[in-house]
Amino acid sequence: MQYDLNAIRAQFPALSVLDDDKSRIYFDNPAGTQVSRFVVDRMSHCLLQANANIHGYFRTSVLVDDLIAEARVAMADMLNAPSPDEIIFGQNMTTLTLHISRSIGRLLKEGDEIVLSRMDHDANVSPWLLLAEDLNLKIRWLPFNVETFEFDLDVLDEVLTDKTRLVCVGAASNLLGTINDVKAICTRAREAGAMTYIDAVQAVPHISTDVQDLGCDFLVCSAYKFFGPHQGILWGRRELLEQLEPYKVRPATDEIPGCFETGTQSHEGMAGTAAAVDYLAWIGENMAQSYHWRYESFAARRMHVHAAMDFLFEYETGLASHLIEGLQRLPGVRVQGITAADSLARRVPTVSFTVDGRSPDSIAEALAAKNIFVWSGHVYAVEPAKALDIYDAGGAVRIGPVHYNSIAEIDQLMVELDQILPRANVA
Ligand SMILES: Cc1ncc(COP(=O)(O)O)c(C=O)c1O
Repeated sequence: MQYDLNAIRAQFPALSVLDDDKSRIYFDNPAGTQVSRFVVDRMSHCLLQANANIHGYFRTSVLVDDLIAEARVAMADMLNAPSPDEIIFGQNMTTLTLHISRSIGRLLKEGDEIVLSRMDHDANVSPWLLLAEDLNLKIRWLPFNVETFEFDLDVLDEVLTDKTRLVCVGAASNLLGTINDVKAICTRAREAGAMTYIDAVQAVPHISTDVQDLGCDFLVCSAYKFFGPHQGILWGRRELLEQLEPYKVRPATDEIPGCFETGTQSHEGMAGTAAAVDYLAWIGENMAQSYHWRYESFAARRMHVHAAMDFLFEYETGLASHLIEGLQRLPGVRVQGITAADSLARRVPTVSFTVDGRSPDSIAEALAAKNIFVWSGHVYAVEPAKALDIYDAGGAVRIGPVHYNSIAEIDQLMVELDQILPRANVA
C-alpha cells in the first residue's frame, strides 16, 4: 500500500494545533515525539477506570495489574524479547540506567574495565563514569571516526581486553543520526567475555529493534521518543536479571521484573506505552502488508510492529535524503553526520548541522519564530560534540523529522533557513 501520510497525521491531534492561525512544524522529535489518539485514549482510560495501586483485591487494582501485564507484553513485542518478565519500567532511560548500574556494579570488582563510546548520549556515559569512580574500575573509550561519523570496529578489538566486563554503546546517535552495528559490537563483546548495555532510545522510534537478533544483554529505550508518554523501558536478559541484586525496599517483591521497579510507577505511562505499540501495529496491519513476510515467524502484533518499523524507515529515509540535499545547498552549512546517498540506511533521519560563524541557538530561535521547532546545542551528546570540536561553539542545530512529517514541511524549513542564515547572529 502507498504511504498514507494523511491517515497517519490524522492519528495525531497535536499535528493540527494552530498558534495564531499558524501551523506547527515539529522537527524536535529526537527530544520527544507527539502522541497518537491511541495513547491519549488509553492513558485517559487508565486514569478514569484503573487508577489504583497494584496487587489489591478490588476492581481498579485488578484492572491496573492487567494493564501493566499487557504493557510488558506490548514492549516484549516491540523489542522481540523472549519474555514479558524481562521488561522493566521506570521513569525514563537515564533513571533506569543510573538505577540498574548500581546492581550491575555488584558483579564488578576493582580493576575491571568498562568500554564507553565517544558517540553516546551522556545517559549511557555518566552513570558508568560514576560507577567506575565508586568501584575503581577502568574506563576504556571507543572513539568514532569524525570524518565518516561511524565506529571502526577494528578499534573496538583494540579496546577490548581480558578485563573488559561491560560494553556500553548507543544503537543510534541522538546528534549524528548514525545507526551503529550493534549486533557486531555485541558479538565481539561476548567473545571477550563482556556484557553489553545498549542505549536504543534513538533507534527504537525509527528501526525494528530485536534484542534476540542483536545478542545484547541490556537494552534501554523511552516511550516518549516513539510516540508514547514519558516512560522508560529496560530490557534485560533473564539469566542476568536473575543474577543481579536489585536495590529495593524490603517489602517490595523479590521477583523479576518488579524487584527492579522501585516505588509506585506511572501506570498511565505504561498504559500509554502499550498504546504506542498498538499504534505502530495498526500501521503494520493496515499499511505495511508487503513487509509482513520479513517477520513471518513472529506472532500477530509482533509481526505488525516490526513490519511497520521497516515500512516507516523507508519513508523516513526519503525525508532524510531530501533534508540533507536541501541543507547541503545552503552556503556555509556543514552536516555533522552521514550524507552519502548510498549510505542513508546507516542513519536515522535526525540531521544536525553547523554553520560557519553562526550560533546554533540563534538559528533555532529564528526558526521558532516561524513556528518550526528544532533543537540546538550539544543535546546531551557531550562526548560526540567534543570529538567534533563543536561543543564550545554551541553544538549544532538538530532537525529531527519522523514518519508523520512531510516533504512539504522540509521544503518550508528550507525556505525559512534561506531567509534566516544570512541574518543569523554571529556567535
Ligand atoms: C540517545 C539517548 N539516550 C538517552 C536519552 C535519555 O533519555 P531519557 O530522557 O528517557 O532519560 C536520550 C534523550 O534524549 C537520548 O537521545
